[in-house]
Amino acid sequence: MKIFVDTAKKDEIKEAESWGILDGVTTNPSLIKKAVETAGKGVSLEDYIKDILRTVEGPVSLEVGASSLEEMISEAKVLYDKFNPINDNVVVKIPVNTYMCDGDDNFSGIKATKALSDQGIPVNSTLIMTPNQALMAAKAGAAYVSPFVGRIDDLIRKRIGLKRGKDYPKGTYYPEELAIRVWENKLGRFIDEQEIDNIIYRDHEIMKLFDWANDNGIFSGIDMLWSVKKVYDEYEFDTEIIAASIRTARQVRLCAEMGVDIATIPFSVIEKMMIHRKTSQGMKAFCDDVIPEYQEILKG
Ligand code: G3P
Repeated sequence: MKIFVDTAKKDEIKEAESWGILDGVTTNPSLIKKAVETAGKGVSLEDYIKDILRTVEGPVSLEVGASSLEEMISEAKVLYDKFNPINDNVVVKIPVNTYMCDGDDNFSGIKATKALSDQGIPVNSTLIMTPNQALMAAKAGAAYVSPFVGRIDDLIRKRIGLKRGKDYPKGTYYPEELAIRVWENKLGRFIDEQEIDNIIYRDHEIMKLFDWANDNGIFSGIDMLWSVKKVYDEYEFDTEIIAASIRTARQVRLCAEMGVDIATIPFSVIEKMMIHRKTSQGMKAFCDDVIPEYQEILKG
């Protein structure tokens, strides 16, 4: 699985690059806003972006800011023409559907994806929330699709919270796990971690009993990814899947297990992927056990 970092912060990109694990970068207007706020005033955003492009050899997604077809195509070309010559690694991010309110249409994003892909500009189709959107984006020629795992969990978590009269905070809760606890109550027995994984990620039937814990038959962000991958495998699309809106190391592990092409991961989550308390304890024990004779050898 390729690892992209989901950030526009240069120090995070450079740090992940220095670990030898980085295959690309994804940004969006919100991430650029955060990066600029952190970098402070007086920074040339154009130079800043160029520096990011030079830091990584892999693809760097830059997103358009408009929502009309003409403006998206025009902005995508500006981004591509201005920045791709730097390191030949620009991918333009286009929302799969730019509808926001009455009067907007639902199809400008897909039309822009088709038009830009036809012109040889690689498109990352973003804000994918359903397997059907991913299917349409692939058919329109997107080089990448970005299903938003965490935001689907947000939606389902909110629905479960409403049902149960609770407000579950973002990032602290896997909606499917709550459903598992409810299922345990029904069964009258504890369901262990392995069984949870089997139920949630390999045997969806039990989860589908929870009508209130799903979104149109999808009951978690990871479940949506499974579905997108199944569709893509079935029809052998070349479009690569970027698991996006990742919030936890566990989600990364599940992405890797299912064989997703790419996960784009916030830097803080990439850091957590390296940490385990038993590794630290083991490290301490090894250091404590270095006897003087061995230390002499190690000195060389
Ligand atoms: O890759 C998309 C990502 O930036 C959105 O993440 O956590 O804001 O849903 P999040």
